[in-house]
Amino acid sequence: MKPIYMDYNATTPIDPQVLEAMLPYLRGEFGNPSSSHVYGRRAHEAVVAAREKTAALIGCEPDEVVFTSSGSESNNQAIIGTAIAHRGKGHIVTSQTEHPAVLKTCRYLQERLGYKVTYLPVDKFGIISTEDLEKAITDETVLVTIMHANNETGTIQPNEKIGKILEDRNIPFHTDAAQSCGKTDVDVDSLKVDLLTIAGHKLYAPKGIGALYVRDGTQLDSLIHGGGQEQGRRAGTENVPYIVGLGKACEIAKRDLPDFKPRTKVLREGLYQGILDKLGGDSVILNGHPEERLPNTLNLSFKGLVGEELLKSIPEIAASTGSACHSGSMEPSPVLTAMGLSGETALGAVRFSLGRWTTKDEVDHAIDLVSKNVSRIRLQLKA
Ligand SMILES: Cc1ncc(COP(=O)(O)O)c(C=O)c1O
Repeated sequence: MKPIYMDYNATTPIDPQVLEAMLPYLRGEFGNPSSSHVYGRRAHEAVVAAREKTAALIGCEPDEVVFTSSGSESNNQAIIGTAIAHRGKGHIVTSQTEHPAVLKTCRYLQERLGYKVTYLPVDKFGIISTEDLEKAITDETVLVTIMHANNETGTIQPNEKIGKILEDRNIPFHTDAAQSCGKTDVDVDSLKVDLLTIAGHKLYAPKGIGALYVRDGTQLDSLIHGGGQEQGRRAGTENVPYIVGLGKACEIAKRDLPDFKPRTKVLREGLYQGILDKLGGDSVILNGHPEERLPNTLNLSFKGLVGEELLKSIPEIAASTGSACHSGSMEPSPVLTAMGLSGETALGAVRFSLGRWTTKDEVDHAIDLVSKNVSRIRLQLKA
C-alpha cells in the first residue's frame, strides 16, 4: 500500500488533466513563441491562453502576469527587483515567519547591499500586528513583503488591512501567495497587492514553474536580462509546456475552489477532532489560527514527543515537520518559535496538509495510526 499523502503543502502531484494539456507541447508543438511561422504562432497562442487562465485565478489582467521558474524566483524578482528600482532609498518590511525565499532574499539585500530590513514579530497565531507595521514604515520604505498564507501553519495574514495602510502611503506591497493560490480565494484587488507570487507545484502543476503578478505601473527592475519575453520583464525563451501546465492548473483551481474549500475543511476538521478524541485535548496543541487558516492545513504539537521521530514511526503517513536537522541535532521550526512556542513544543509539531485526492478513509486511517503511535511512544517514554 502506498503511504497516505498528507504533505500537499510541500508539493502536489501533477493533475492528470494538467499533464494531458502539457503533452502536446512536449511532443509536436515545439515552436518558439517568438517565431513568426505557424510553429511559433501555435506556441505563442498556448502561452497567451495560459496567461489568461493564470490571470483569471487571481483577478488581474493577463499582461500583469510574468511567468517564472518557481515561487522562489518570483519572490526574489519581486523583492530584489523593487529594491533596485527604488535605489537611493533602502528599507524593506517583512515578517519573521516568511518562507526562506523571502527571508533569505531580504537578508541578502541587508548584508550585501546595505538595505535596512524590519522583520515584524507575529502573535501566538502567527499574525502580524498592523500597528507594528505602521510603526515600522519610514520615508525610506520601498517595499512591504508579507506572505498571504503560511506554509507550516496555514495562518492567513490580514492582507486587506495591510494593503489599505500601504495604499494610503503609496508603498508597494508584495505577498507570497505560493500556498494560498488554489486553496483559498486570492484576488489581487481585494488583497490590495502590487506583486504576488504563485508556485505551480503547490496547485497541481509541475515543479519548476511559477508566476509573478505585477500590477500595471509598478516599478520593478528585471533580474534576467536578454530577449524581450514576458513583457520585457523576464528574458529567456518561454517554457511553453510548463506554462501551459500552470495555466491549466489555474483553470482547474478556479473551477474547483468552491467545492475544494468546504470539502477539505471538513476532512481537516475530521482529522483534528479524531486525533483529539483519541488522545485528549490536553496533550495536543493546534498551531496556527483556529479560523484564519488555509482549509487544508493542520499543524499539531504532540506534547512530550518529537515530530520527526513520530513521523519516522508511522511510515504509512507522508507528512512533515518544520524542524530541520543541523549537525545531527534537531532545530525547531523558526516559524513556530516566532509564534512563541517553546523549543520543545515546536519540536513536537507535525504538519498534515490535505489536498485534492485526500479521502475520508485516509483521514480515518491516519487518525488511527497517529493516535496509536503517539500513545505507544508516550508509554515507552514513561517506562
Ligand atoms: C510560502 C512559500 N513560498 C515560496 C515557496 C517556494 O516555491 P518554489 O518551491 O516553487 O520555489 C514555497 C515552497 O515551499 C512556499 O511554501
